[in-house]
Amino acid sequence: MRKNIVAGNWKMNTTVPEGVQLAKDVCEAVAAAGELKCDVIMGVPFTHLTAVCETIGTANVGLAAQNCADHTSGAYTGEVSAPMVASTGAGYVILGHSERRGYYNETAEMLKEKVDLALANGLKVIFCCGESLEERENGTFKDVIAAEIRDSLFHLSAEQFKEIVIAYEPIWAIGTGKTATSDQAQEIHAFIRGLLTEQFGAQVADDTTILYGGSCKPSNAPELFAKPDIDGGLIGGASLKAADFMGIVTAF
Ligand code: 13P
Repeated sequence: MRKNIVAGNWKMNTTVPEGVQLAKDVCEAVAAAGELKCDVIMGVPFTHLTAVCETIGTANVGLAAQNCADHTSGAYTGEVSAPMVASTGAGYVILGHSERRGYYNETAEMLKEKVDLALANGLKVIFCCGESLEERENGTFKDVIAAEIRDSLFHLSAEQFKEIVIAYEPIWAIGTGKTATSDQAQEIHAFIRGLLTEQFGAQVADDTTILYGGSCKPSNAPELFAKPDIDGGLIGGASLKAADFMGIVTAF
């Protein structure tokens, strides 16, 4: 049985005190909401991990970093490794976000290293994929998505793949207010599950959580989450206000 997940990706937002306050607000709202039909995760900046982990305490909320290095330790000034992330208490790391691929030139090969190091250090991976507007319009989008998944994840064993969550985030829908329609998203989620079936078998594919990301908000989340292959969301802008985020969490 696969899990539903709603994960926030705070990106490069909030100071540490602001982040701690936001985390507190989310934890309180989750506690007040009673039994939820999804897991809740907050993806916070590196600087916030330890403090937010303390804030979460025993609350039923997971913690994610937004990246990790493609090396374990050593002379890599400014980098933060998977063992460092794990030592903060975080259980997840977001890898392959289009902003990291696009602005920081992360390649499939680098992401493969990062995935391996994350798993070796006990972190679950939220692995992002998605096409640009140009790729959507010229019809190559399925090839692009398949290559992103294949080139950084298909070296894993079926057992290892159980620690992977996929997030489909069409670049043209990120921060633009333009959501993929629920039918467009469902089509890609089903396509991804088909790829996973071919590579890892039907059971693993069926158990894999596939999230949608891109201008997801309380108003469109119910329709997206009602689709059979959409198992939750990776939320940017709307994760920065506890009320908006909770509006998506409770959309299931
Ligand atoms: P928005 O929800 O702000 O469109 O961002 C989506 C995203 O990139 C989450 O990783």
